Amino acid sequence: MTYQGLIQRYGHFLDLPAHTKTISLLEGNTPLIPMPRLSAELDCELFIKFEGLNPTGSFKDRGMTSAISEAVGRGAQTVICASTGNTAASAAAYAARAGVRAIVLIPEGKVAAGKLAGAIAYGAEVIQIQGSFDDALALVVEITQKTPIALVNSINPFRIEGQKTAAFEICDELGSAPDWLCLPVGNAGNITSYWAGFKQYQKGLPQLLGVQAAGAAPLVLGQAVEKPETIATAIRIGRPARGEQALAAAQESNGKISAVSDEQILAAQKILAEEGVWVEPASAAGLAGLLAESAVGKFEARGRRVVVVCTGHGMKDPAIIADSFAAPRIIPASYAALLGLIGA
Ligand code: F0G
Repeated sequence: MTYQGLIQRYGHFLDLPAHTKTISLLEGNTPLIPMPRLSAELDCELFIKFEGLNPTGSFKDRGMTSAISEAVGRGAQTVICASTGNTAASAAAYAARAGVRAIVLIPEGKVAAGKLAGAIAYGAEVIQIQGSFDDALALVVEITQKTPIALVNSINPFRIEGQKTAAFEICDELGSAPDWLCLPVGNAGNITSYWAGFKQYQKGLPQLLGVQAAGAAPLVLGQAVEKPETIATAIRIGRPARGEQALAAAQESNGKISAVSDEQILAAQKILAEEGVWVEPASAAGLAGLLAESAVGKFEARGRRVVVVCTGHGMKDPAIIADSFAAPRIIPASYAALLGLIGA
């Protein structure tokens, strides 16, 4: 059967109202990539769920197909979200597809180039807020309570419905849930969705390792972070809207929420790229957390099946790489110069 997107494939598992009008970019169906070198190193069976291969380059498309389909189906003319970038690009694309207006609020100066460009390319009205993601989220919540504009952040329950499909896909591919699922946590919609998805699908339950950046780790600190800071701008969030649910999911699964430094995140990004998978910094947090837990012996890896969710593509944030590497060397366009440089 030709692939027709997530609502078509898993709609019978999703709690979407009858008025839902499917808007799809054939999202989902992302690969579960085996990582033989990392598996050997950690003595486990490790896979990357590469969500960067969704239509707009992040996992957000899973929840956006469902949220926009519901909103448009009930007649919404305008959708709005706060975003660290990926939600903005995804909302913009699905709104464009549906022919409705998209407004996105982003924290000033803190959104990676590939995300901002995406939101603009898809035709969203992009507004920078002199404040954090948390401030932007408070604003969009208020405006959607007072006007008919539809909210498409993951507070919207239909976002969660769509994002459950990643858990379904993993179970379908592996035949059952993995032993561990490691993923970054920002506003905490995704970990909430995975846990709901695994519970509903009844193919076993993984232990969850949710990973925050140390400078934006309210769920590890047990309190809101007023000025979150991390190189992983996607998860630069101090007051996660679904924080309670994330903590409950981690606890129920006998897993945990941990924090890693920016250095650990960048190191994990490099390790993934060395095995052929380039992800944006936030997306490497899951692996960074797994490596940190393994190093202190808390994670019993041996013989386990582990899925690390890489939420967004490396191309979203080219500056992280470009800024930290020397520009490629320049030589005259001659064979002698080439041979002289690379040796033979
Ligand atoms: N990874 C990436 C690449 C993200 O963009 C986000 C969230 C997360 C992980 C965390 O997911 O919020 O469900 O816990 N990005 C949001 C955005 C906040 O606006 O794009 P979460």
